[in-house]
Amino acid sequence: MKPTIEPTPGATAPPLPLPSGLDPALAATLTARWEAGPGAVLAREFTNLYGHRDGAADAWNALLSTAAGLAARRDPELHALDAERAQRPDWFLDPGMLGYSTYVDRFGGGFSGVTARIDWLQGLGVRYLHLLPFLRPRDGDNDGGFAVSDYDEVDPRLGTMDDLVGLARRLRASGISLGADLVLNHTADDHAWAVAARAGDPRYRAFYHVYPDREVPDRFEATLPQIFPLTAPGNFTHDAALDAWVWTTFYPFQWDLDWSNPDVFVAMAATLLRTANRGVEVLRLDSIAFLWKRQGTDCMNQPEVHAILRALRALVDVFAPGVLLKAEAIVPMRDLPPYFGGAQGPECHLAYHSSLMTAAWASLALGDTAMLRRVLRDTPTLGPCCSWLTYVRCHDDIGWKVLAPEAVGGDREPPVDLGWVAGFYAGSRADSFADGRPFQSADGGVHGTSGMAADLCGIGRAQRAGDPRAMAEAVDRLLLLYGVAMCCGGLPTLYMGDEIALGNDLAFDDDPGRRHEGRWLHRPAMDWERAADPHAHAPAGVVLARLRAMVAVRRDQSALHAAAPRRVLDAGNPSLLVLARGDQFIGVFNFGPRAVRFAPPVDSWHDLLDASVRGMSFVVRPWGQCWLERG
Ligand code: GLC
Repeated sequence: MKPTIEPTPGATAPPLPLPSGLDPALAATLTARWEAGPGAVLAREFTNLYGHRDGAADAWNALLSTAAGLAARRDPELHALDAERAQRPDWFLDPGMLGYSTYVDRFGGGFSGVTARIDWLQGLGVRYLHLLPFLRPRDGDNDGGFAVSDYDEVDPRLGTMDDLVGLARRLRASGISLGADLVLNHTADDHAWAVAARAGDPRYRAFYHVYPDREVPDRFEATLPQIFPLTAPGNFTHDAALDAWVWTTFYPFQWDLDWSNPDVFVAMAATLLRTANRGVEVLRLDSIAFLWKRQGTDCMNQPEVHAILRALRALVDVFAPGVLLKAEAIVPMRDLPPYFGGAQGPECHLAYHSSLMTAAWASLALGDTAMLRRVLRDTPTLGPCCSWLTYVRCHDDIGWKVLAPEAVGGDREPPVDLGWVAGFYAGSRADSFADGRPFQSADGGVHGTSGMAADLCGIGRAQRAGDPRAMAEAVDRLLLLYGVAMCCGGLPTLYMGDEIALGNDLAFDDDPGRRHEGRWLHRPAMDWERAADPHAHAPAGVVLARLRAMVAVRRDQSALHAAAPRRVLDAGNPSLLVLARGDQFIGVFNFGPRAVRFAPPVDSWHDLLDASVRGMSFVVRPWGQCWLERG
């Protein structure tokens, strides 16, 4: 049984200490927010997590004085945003919301290049832009920027901090919220804290998990998973300067922070608020599941992770309430709902629905939607002001392991061989349309799959074969997956390049700095030539036009609001997914290679994606979809 944290009975908010000289209106606002609940939650969680530790009282005082100081320096425009969002806290559940995720350099070269491409994002209908890590990373290998050397400096190759702040402002003025990664599980091994630890400073040595020998690491290792089993096996790295073993869940140069140390909490909470002050409106909490370590467990999803999240959310709710927290917890679905919070307080506003994404790919390979239907049926209804982030691809591999619980099968579903699915996308089966590659999978093992969506859907193969029918089917498959992401209730997020069917980037194979890391296969540079004239680069024009049309239809459909009720209907055919949103909208998605006739339960309906189609029954072509509206 997992241990739980008992809340301190009857904890109430202590007074909020505020610096003298603070603008009285701001002081009143902060105090009101503090007293509305977050103050009590923060005090309770901080006490439970750290009350027994030396220095906890000093850490608490430092936390509050830093937070108040940062609130005093927060841009008036952001204070205004805080107030506006307080009036409409569910703003991001709107069907007009669309996300877009990209690396700064791959999309625009630097911050100014991204600014120059805002019109492209607006043309797509994007309202939330997730820029992958742009802070100063360590030199050399840095896990695509996820090894951060300095949270207060940007990567100089991308521009300056002022450029970033200017970009955030320009985006906001264009109706787009900027999102950024907050890498809080680990720092780079050349971050100032790690450097100080190596130099023998005990304060900073205590920022990390450092062990003099293998005894404790070996005990932990017995139950720990491997994130990069081929390129970074094991979870601990021997560091010569420390003459000790340091916890490194990901790469050896990413040192896990010790969140049981109150000084780590204070330092990272301040980092969060400083990032928010730069105009970042959505914080992607990277690798959040890994923050707390407990022997005998997989050291993921521990109760203390949720206590930390409640404390961070409370801080945000007082000092930067316009900001959203997004959980990057790539864990089986049953472990996800707690990341939104519960009776003990709210946690994140958003969380990646990786099981849904992965199940959609599995169903596409199998031509059978049983897995997808099960995931959707089991997807819980969320509380008010919470939403899934739905997506098709991102900068990471498709990690099959999140589906392990569903893959064993259930009362209504047969078991699924994820090894077969992974093999299908690696293109190793004669009947496959996909051009992907296994990621971190030793012979036949099931770990992940790399590849751009277009190539995983067969666009590359169809192009090479010069086969127009195969091409049309591959395009349908790509749009089918985006259709599910747009209809099932959440904030759908495009991955850069998918809108113009950009394929795999094979160039990384020849780059000695990247070739060991298969995820670079799906991190190409944006092809602006193709974007400028998509019809000259088939099938980019068709993909772009149809995707834009889907976004436009979605925008006006209140049935596709993230919180609108969702129900999986019995389709009578295993290749169909039929999803009702309320009683006015039915999405019909055909994951199989044969056309299927579908008759909605009652009444006459019309297809929002094809104005000419209406009636009592519909033929859904292979890999086709209908968005049916009643009437
Ligand atoms: C997240 C990122 C991934 C990175 C890892 C370690 O999962 O998405 O790209 O490798 O965290 O920071």
